[in-house]
Amino acid sequence: MKLPPLALYAHFPWCVQKCPYCDFNSHTLREELPEQRYVDALLRDLESQLPDVDSRSLNSVFLGGGTPSLFSPSAIGRLLENARAQLGFVEGIEITLEANPGTIERGKFAEYRAAGVTRVSLGAQSFDTRQLKLLGRIHSADETRRAAEELHAAGLSNFNLDLMYALPGQTADEARADLREALALRPAHLSQYHLTIEPGTLFAAAPPTQPADEIVDDMLDLSLRTLVDAGFEQYEVSGYASAGARCAHNLNYWEFGDYLGIGAGAHGKISDSSRGVAVRTQQTREPRRYLAADPRALVRKPISNQDMPFEFAMNGFRLVEGFKDELFEARTGLPVAVLEDALSPLVRRGLVERGEKRWRATAKGFRFLNEILVELLPDPDPASNP
Ligand SMILES: C[S@@+](CC[C@H](N)C(=O)[O-])C[C@H]1O[C@@H](n2cnc3c(N)ncnc32)[C@H](O)[C@@H]1O
Ligand code: SF4
Repeated sequence: MKLPPLALYAHFPWCVQKCPYCDFNSHTLREELPEQRYVDALLRDLESQLPDVDSRSLNSVFLGGGTPSLFSPSAIGRLLENARAQLGFVEGIEITLEANPGTIERGKFAEYRAAGVTRVSLGAQSFDTRQLKLLGRIHSADETRRAAEELHAAGLSNFNLDLMYALPGQTADEARADLREALALRPAHLSQYHLTIEPGTLFAAAPPTQPADEIVDDMLDLSLRTLVDAGFEQYEVSGYASAGARCAHNLNYWEFGDYLGIGAGAHGKISDSSRGVAVRTQQTREPRRYLAADPRALVRKPISNQDMPFEFAMNGFRLVEGFKDELFEARTGLPVAVLEDALSPLVRRGLVERGEKRWRATAKGFRFLNEILVELLPDPDPASNP
């Protein structure tokens, strides 16, 4: 098994206020941010995982959350400096910071950039005051506009905006108006997420009324046309990029690359070429327990050969271009023939198609990605059946 590119994900689990739709490992900050202690814990975590990756350099870093922009530029700088010293960065490394427009003071993006950040992902969600309120967001549309101006002024023009659609009572025109507002801020990348009602959230307890499927289909058609006209290309189910602005870090996930996961609840995936296997890692989830825990408490679980095609396809079919046979074989160590049986019923249903030595989802398959994934789920272990 040839080693894939290596990335680093660092999770920052606190937010000013928990949003009612969000099931990420994010918690309302109720006391002073334990900034130094948390960065110390991240560094211990990283150090304890170094033997898993020998002397491989990092291709990308993603500082995600939660709200990493609650951390000061100097704390972020300390983490990045240590990661660089321990592992090394490839030339032109992409280092993304997720930011909430409600946590950005004047001049702060310039300081994050000086600390090593090369790309920012800004959680805009919507520009409609009513929706922002319903979504429990802590910022106004004007604050998002100001944050975007600050990003351009700081030389971080290759930023991403997160938008959500299928919002409570939203019409296709309203969704397009959000998109136009977003485009007016000249982002290099846009992520558009269908609002999903996740178990355990406030929205799950009292679900808002979302638009009907036909309206959501119209939203998707309109948004794709609007984005293509504005020079964006859809390269992933939720991802649209202007020329040269695809997110290298997320591409590495979708191409089944390796990533170290540090921080509360962070996941990782690391190949062990000597044993021809890949291992998933998961760190202690609850932030207080994570701060107190021994980083060696990290849970490691090998990906079985039976699960490998599903795990690979779950990522690969998210890409508009799908994946090459060659990539499947290099990343999984399995012959691409193992996919043929599982995929032929999907070909008959018009959900996936065979290109030149590659597999990809059709336009219809893209809308029903979950059906593709269910078909690829490994059979349950017969021994565990009654
Ligand atoms: C982990 S959040 C980080 C961004 C930052 N904390 C913020 O919200 O400004 C990443 C993105 O996931 C999306 N998201 C979170 N929960 C979602 C849900 N239930 N349905 C759709 N998108 C969701 C939002 O667009 C959010 O910006
Ligand atoms: S959407 Fe972002 S700001 Fe809201 S709770 Fe989730 S991580 Fe925090």
